[in-house]
Amino acid sequence: MDTKVPQPFDDYEARLRRDWTDREHETWAKLYERQMECITGLSCQAFNEGLHMLGYDPKHLPDPVAISQLIRQHSGWGLTSAQNEYLGATEWFEHIVGRRFPVTEYIRDLKDLDFTPLPDLFHEYFGHLALFTDQRFADISQQFGELYLLGDERQRADIAKLWWFSIEFAFIKEDGEEKVLGAGLLSSPGELEFARHGGKPHHPFTIERVTQAKPAAYSFHEEYFVLDSIEQMQQVIDEYAQREGLPMHQRAVSLV
Ligand SMILES: [Fe+2]
Repeated sequence: MDTKVPQPFDDYEARLRRDWTDREHETWAKLYERQMECITGLSCQAFNEGLHMLGYDPKHLPDPVAISQLIRQHSGWGLTSAQNEYLGATEWFEHIVGRRFPVTEYIRDLKDLDFTPLPDLFHEYFGHLALFTDQRFADISQQFGELYLLGDERQRADIAKLWWFSIEFAFIKEDGEEKVLGAGLLSSPGELEFARHGGKPHHPFTIERVTQAKPAAYSFHEEYFVLDSIEQMQQVIDEYAQREGLPMHQRAVSLV
């Protein structure tokens, strides 16, 4: 019998680190300024609106508890500490099902802004969290987690790729233009430039193509995918569940 009892968000938020040093604030300020320059005019509307809602101070690292509570008000998601590790996929998706986004508590050093030896919080706070204020995106993300935990080994590999090539690395069409949705592009000047001008193909986002693509955790990608809309992410996840016989729509249950 599963003896795990969902914990209230307060328990997770209480473990988030908030004691940033002046040097860490300075790193944030430098990264924030640089990244805003990179993405201006390129980031998708849902990201832009979410970033505005988060109201980050460009000069100071955010208070993780305040950000968690703010996102909760918008979409019912909160933050939890990833304790500076890459979580295993199962543990990761268990948090996702519980509407908790794991954030690390490490930020790279000021003297080397282009290198981080550990998972770095800038990717999560800047790249990911804005979109979690969007209820559609938040619900779809939780569904990824549900399907992953219900899937067999092959299905889990498929779902991880559908997540990776959408939430981490997708472009999205807006008014006939490709805008940036994926957190891995929104938080990385190098891969954003490569993805736009590196000559690699941009394909329409389909289950067939994405599940055959190769994720690249330590290099840039050989191909990128373009969503028609956030609603298409919902269609993709519904279609995958239907064709694989996986149950859906448990997401309306609040785990708070
Ligand atoms: Fe990420």
